[in-house]
Amino acid sequence: MQLKFDYNNMMESAIGSHGIKPSEISDAESQHAAVYKQVVDNSGKGWQGWTETPMISQAEVDELNAFGKAIREKASSFVVLGIGGSALGPICVFNALLHLHHNELPAAMRKAPKFYVEDNIDPQRMSALLDVIDVKTTYFNVITKSGETSETLGQFLILYSLLKKALGEKAAKEHIFVTTTIGKGALYATAQQEGFKTFGIPAGVGGRFSVLSNVGLVPFAVMGIDVAALLKGAREMRKACERKDIEQNPALMTAFLQVLSMRSGKNISVMMPYADGLRTMADFYCQIWAESLGKALDNDGKTVNCGQTPAKSLGVTDQHSQVQLYNEGPFDKVITFIGVDNFDTTVEIPANETAEAGGFLKGHTLNELINAERKATEFAVTKAGRSNFTIMMPKVDAETVGELLMYFMYETAFAGAYLNIDTFNQPGVEEGKKATFAMIGRTGYEQKLAELRSVKKNDAYVIK
Ligand code: PA5
Repeated sequence: MQLKFDYNNMMESAIGSHGIKPSEISDAESQHAAVYKQVVDNSGKGWQGWTETPMISQAEVDELNAFGKAIREKASSFVVLGIGGSALGPICVFNALLHLHHNELPAAMRKAPKFYVEDNIDPQRMSALLDVIDVKTTYFNVITKSGETSETLGQFLILYSLLKKALGEKAAKEHIFVTTTIGKGALYATAQQEGFKTFGIPAGVGGRFSVLSNVGLVPFAVMGIDVAALLKGAREMRKACERKDIEQNPALMTAFLQVLSMRSGKNISVMMPYADGLRTMADFYCQIWAESLGKALDNDGKTVNCGQTPAKSLGVTDQHSQVQLYNEGPFDKVITFIGVDNFDTTVEIPANETAEAGGFLKGHTLNELINAERKATEFAVTKAGRSNFTIMMPKVDAETVGELLMYFMYETAFAGAYLNIDTFNQPGVEEGKKATFAMIGRTGYEQKLAELRSVKKNDAYVIK
């Protein structure tokens, strides 16, 4: 494993009374063993199919790469249509591994099509997308595990219709490929009828745990990301997360420390990478942490209403926005810093620049500065008694990104097991989905519509 996890600043020895005593870790030995058993002994079973996603064969990787290359060579733009777990994986990996201004680069420097992930149905966003792509040379990957998600299906209908108008029915079909559960859902049926190339999502791999399945791998292959290295990193992290001893297992340890902190009122988990390329890793983390751990009932049917609210923050940007609160606000947060030892480029602040302002910076590099600021913030929050830990990445590449993603998945699974909840369901989003179907007039939701219409609003509480 290349990542390093330093949890010193979660401990009483570093932050005083808000910290954790070593005995709190050692006294919970039987809990760690039960949690470990629940997650690791069930690898690949039930909703833990995600543990197996990095284990695909070299032949499968080669096949994906060949498909990806063929699309890459003919596409001007490549668009993913998906939402939630079907979007955030591709978004964070591209953000981490492609040029930060990929779409603005001249075509000759880009080496891959322009890339968009459409994970919202704001009409202005769709119309803006259509202003910047040429559908005739754009390829669309429609990703939905259920094959039933309204937002994604709505986008698909719009774009397929446009493609048919622009290219004719036969050619339009070549511009769409689908990633969904084989044999299930409306999109699979349509893909069969229309003859779209279809990639499967294995059973037991939920949306937010699907980044290393075809949900991510197909787009990564199209964009020329090193799929083999990404999976290698994920496998390395899987090994580390299967270490029995909590002192050696990064995901088991940090999951336990987070859950312990949550139990003492630290209900907010801040994810703060110090690298622009990792900005959307925080989005990935926010989804997996929120949707997996925010649950009303535990596995015994007891009302627990548990879950830490994840918050995203970016170093150094949010030092000028959030850190005041982290240092002096309520003791209700755990901050995870992500640092990067070596950036791909070094940018110097010229030593011989004659302008006087910022003289103390001259001769240093932005690389030194960003890491000095990360360490300084870590020092300040620790001095203020705030729980925090740091994940260090030697560099951001496909392998370390694979490690980080796998760590997030294991950490979440272990945390859910400590909390004794179902980590892999999301009953709290069903009511809103049904209400949407009712309002849009879907057959079978008439009763829900009546229920919605029966809700009365008091005008006295509306300010105009
Ligand atoms: O994590 C999850 O299960 C969700 O966020 C889903 O990914 C999201 O609702 C999209 O679902 P689907 O992939 O079925 O379109």
